[in-house]
Amino acid sequence: DRTPIIAPSILAADFSRLADEVAAIELTADWVHVDVMDNHFVPNLTIGLPVVQSLRKATNVPLDVHLMITDPERWAPGYAEAGAYNVTFHAEACENPAALAKTLRAAGSKAGLAIDRDTPVEPYLEFLPYIDTLLIMTIKAGFGGQAFMPEMLGKVRDVRRRIRAKGLEVRLEVDGGIAADTIAEAAEAGADAFVAGTAVYGASDPAEAVRRLRALAAP
Ligand code: DX5
Ligand code: ZN
Repeated sequence: DRTPIIAPSILAADFSRLADEVAAIELTADWVHVDVMDNHFVPNLTIGLPVVQSLRKATNVPLDVHLMITDPERWAPGYAEAGAYNVTFHAEACENPAALAKTLRAAGSKAGLAIDRDTPVEPYLEFLPYIDTLLIMTIKAGFGGQAFMPEMLGKVRDVRRRIRAKGLEVRLEVDGGIAADTIAEAAEAGADAFVAGTAVYGASDPAEAVRRLRALAAP
């Protein structure tokens, strides 16, 4: 199933009104993307487990948790136990991605592997059979509002080719600078899940922004 997934990132939302911000896109979005940063893996600090636990009670939209943290083996399973739909950890921070993916699935979530801007994807293609989502950063992880990097689409094409060749069901997600003027080329390259922070929450009508992105993401 290649139906596009649109995942607004609450990093660009108003953190003092999170439940309302999520409610605003509840009927049009597929997942809500939650960016967890620890000020170690990336030079920025955001939110963590308590917010995911609270959001889980506030909405039925599947939570797509993106962990930009060191030591994901220690922290990631807690997010699965908190009811996250998908928990994505970074390849650069993990010794054994297949083992952590297995742990996450056992804890009740899908498992995602993320590849940052400066990381080649080839060494990680072998893990595709063990994961549900592969996230290709189209910026350097750490901050919202950065410009989309079309140079990353080569990785997206490589991964899509491998997923197709092996007949796998892995979602191929892109994150960073996804907006009305970039989503079509990412879809064209083979992405089928799209994170958008600024393009959704920076819009005057976030729900309409999601609908617009969806229309542009059809392959
Ligand atoms: C950045 C985060 C992204 C961020 C994207 O490291 O992983 O999810 O929210 O924000 P935009 O869509 O503004 O690039
Ligand atoms: Zn993210």
